[in-house]
Amino acid sequence: MKNATRLTRLGRAHGERGLVNAPVERASTILAPSAAELYSAPPGRPHYGRVGLATQTGLREALCDLQGGRHCALTSSGLQANVLAVLSAVEAGGTVLAADCIYGPVRGFLLQTLKRFGVEVKFISSRTGADVEAHIDDTVQAILLESPGSLTMEIQDLEAVASIARKQGVTTIIDDTWSAGLTMKPLEIGIDLAAQALTKYVGGHSDVMLGAVVAGSERAARRLADTERMLGIFASPDDAFLALRGLRTLEMRMQKSGASGLQIAHWLDSRDEVGKIYHPALPSHRDHDRYQRWFSGPAGLFSFELRVEDLATAERFMDALELFGIGYSWGGYESLIIHCDPQLRRSAGDEGHTGILMRLAIGLEAPEDLIADLDRAFEVIAAN
Ligand SMILES: Cc1ncc(COP(=O)(O)O)c(C=O)c1O
Repeated sequence: MKNATRLTRLGRAHGERGLVNAPVERASTILAPSAAELYSAPPGRPHYGRVGLATQTGLREALCDLQGGRHCALTSSGLQANVLAVLSAVEAGGTVLAADCIYGPVRGFLLQTLKRFGVEVKFISSRTGADVEAHIDDTVQAILLESPGSLTMEIQDLEAVASIARKQGVTTIIDDTWSAGLTMKPLEIGIDLAAQALTKYVGGHSDVMLGAVVAGSERAARRLADTERMLGIFASPDDAFLALRGLRTLEMRMQKSGASGLQIAHWLDSRDEVGKIYHPALPSHRDHDRYQRWFSGPAGLFSFELRVEDLATAERFMDALELFGIGYSWGGYESLIIHCDPQLRRSAGDEGHTGILMRLAIGLEAPEDLIADLDRAFEVIAAN
C-alpha cells in the first residue's frame, strides 16, 4: 500500500460502533471486573489510565506501522521524545556522541542534566559518517543524530553510522522530525530509535505539543518500553487524537509545503540579497547525495543567508513580512520566519555562514503570495 492509502487506515481499529476514528478515551481509574482481576488483568486489558487507552493505542500502532517499528512511546513533547530515547540507551559511566547540529534544548539536556547522572557527551561533526568509528571507545553507548539539522540542514551518513554502531553494540538515535517518519525511514536504514516532535508536521496545525519515539531493534524496543514505564511518561488522549487526525492529511500537507518551499528556495537563489541556501533538496546542497539516497521528498523547512550588514536590517526585513509569522516551531499550515544566530551552538567545527542566517517554515499558502511578500520585504530594506 502507498503511504497516502496507509495514512487513511492506520490506527483506526480501536473505534467502536462503526465510528471511523478511535474515540478520545479519558480515564485514570479503570474498574476491575472482579477482585480476582485486580492484580492480574488479562493481557490487553488496560488496568490504569497511564498506560494509554484507545486514542494513544491507535496513534502508537499507526506510527509503528508507518515506520516499521516494534514499539512506540508517546511523549508530552518532541524534546521529551529525544530525552526519553537517550535515557533508554545510557547508564552511568557512559558517553553519548551527538551530531553537533542537534536541537538546542536536547544539547542542553545532554550537557546539564545527563552529566549530573555520570554520562558524558562528546559532539561530533554534523555531517558525520564512517569517521564516527574513530570516536567510539568502550564508554560510548549511544549516538544521537538529527537529519537534516533543523537550522543548518546537514545530513549525516545514516547508513555508515548505523552499521558501525550496530557492530560495536552502540544504540543509534535520530531526531527525524523533518521527514515526519514519512519521507525517510530511519529504522529501515538500521537506526535503532527514531524520535520525532509530532508537534510539527504530524500535528500540522500549530495547536498541539507531542512527541514519539519508535524503536526498530528488539533490544532498543525493550529498553524504551521499560524506561517509558519507569519514568511515568504519558501523553494525553486529546493530543493523541489531534496527532491521529493530523496523520490523515500528513502526506498531502508535506507535499504541498515541500513543493512550495522548493519553489521559494529557487526564487531566493536568484536574488542578490541572498547568499547560500541551506536546502538539502537543492543539487547545490553539500549533502544532496545523502538526501537523494534516503528521502523521498522535501519538507518545507530550510534556511538561507540574508546578505545584510547587521541584525537590525534583518529584523526590519522580518517585520516587513505580512504572511510570515515571527515565531518558533514549524510544520503548521502557516508560514514562519526566524533568524537563527542566537540559538546556533557548535563545538565540533562549523563552516560558518555570511550575513544573517534566516530560517523559513513554509506553510500551505500559495507560494506566489509568499514570494510577493518576501519581494516586498526586500524592497523595504533596500529603501532604507
Ligand atoms: C528538530 C526538533 N526536534 C525537537 C523539537 C522539540 O519539539 P517540541 O517543541 O515538541 O518539544 C523541535 C522544536 O522546535 C525541533 O525543531
